[in-house]
Amino acid sequence: MNADEFRARAAALDTADPLAIHRSALVPIPPGLVYLDGNSLGRPTARGRERAIGVLDDWATRLVEAWDDWIDLPWVVGDRLGGLIGSAPGQCVVGDSTSVQLYKVVHAVARNLDRPTVLVPEGEFPTDRYVAAGVADALGGRCATFVVPPGGIAADELADLVRHHRADVVVISMVDFRSGARLDVAECTTAVRGAGAVVVWDLSHAAGVVPVHLDAWGVDAAVGCTYKYLHGGPGAPAFAYVRASRQAEWRQPIWGWWGQRDQFAMGDRYDPGIRMRQFGVGTPPVIGLALVDEGVALVESAGIAAIDAKRAALGALTFDLVDVRLGSAQVETPRVADRRGGHVSLRHPDASRISRAGRDRGIVADFRPPDRLRLGLAPLSTSFVDVVTAVETFATIVDSTALDAYTDSPGRVT
Ligand SMILES: Cc1ncc(COP(=O)(O)O)c(C=O)c1O
Repeated sequence: MNADEFRARAAALDTADPLAIHRSALVPIPPGLVYLDGNSLGRPTARGRERAIGVLDDWATRLVEAWDDWIDLPWVVGDRLGGLIGSAPGQCVVGDSTSVQLYKVVHAVARNLDRPTVLVPEGEFPTDRYVAAGVADALGGRCATFVVPPGGIAADELADLVRHHRADVVVISMVDFRSGARLDVAECTTAVRGAGAVVVWDLSHAAGVVPVHLDAWGVDAAVGCTYKYLHGGPGAPAFAYVRASRQAEWRQPIWGWWGQRDQFAMGDRYDPGIRMRQFGVGTPPVIGLALVDEGVALVESAGIAAIDAKRAALGALTFDLVDVRLGSAQVETPRVADRRGGHVSLRHPDASRISRAGRDRGIVADFRPPDRLRLGLAPLSTSFVDVVTAVETFATIVDSTALDAYTDSPGRVT
């Protein structure tokens, strides 16, 4: 297929795209810009912008009285978000960063164990590795690491590692932030449980873009950010999920007044609230929660099934294009649709320079040192023609002398 044929195929897919109508629910970006970084920071929703302004107006007019409407938001938004990831009400909370949620949950799981061992992939997102090590350190235990190949790891291999390291807790992403490989959460959870440990899942690269069924899969605990496929915005509060049957046994370590049973009694001692109430810590970010609520509402109305179908099709088009037009790049992401998430990772020795040259030409993808170019194919904001434009632009850059204008640099790491 040549460039024109790819463009015609993409245009036909866009015409038939049932999600296209939802693009108007996002705040527009400058014409001509192709944004392939929704896996890093999703685009704002128009209703989120209105809600944020609405919160400011409420604050201005109702002042402290407005707290009556805000006070339960971490759990109200938590239940709504939970619906997207297969959680019955009462098991999710939204607030704090992913790092803090992860610390709370991993510590809660490991707290009653004698010198616990926390197992985490060597290539896992940095904060997850640091938190795993931090909890192990705080509890007098140890942190062990292992290597996940770019294609992901099978449940029995993970269980073997748990046995080998005598691990108590495993911290791992459902969708790897680099390769985009997706794990079988149900199988891994069951296999790891059989080996004597609990998995705490990081769903940051999964929530809002692939089907997630936490209750049905038997997951015990999970966390995830909301600023990627859930459109919560920069610094948006993250979520934590703890299975109902585990909530009484696990107590989280940050004893704040928002986790207190009778918060405004201002009691002398910490007395944790029941169920997910104890996972509250301090005053929640109300504007951020309003934005998350609207992001979740958008994903709900588009439907995860339609989002997932488009995600698979966007990936398939990307693989075909890269094979034909960008032969010098190596596709790292698994090609099978249900073995990957929403982004496609390409390895190329000039990835840093291609990414910067692309940005100068209106294509925003991201670079991960040392040689990864990640294309975030967020189904609600990415069109099929966007993918063709992006890969064609990269191909033109690589095939010309355009890269000579750029020196190598380490680039962004977030
Ligand atoms: C897998 C994963 N975990 C955690 C985070 C971020 O954590 P935090 O919300 O604490 O910045 C990211 C950010 O991109 C991520 O990709």
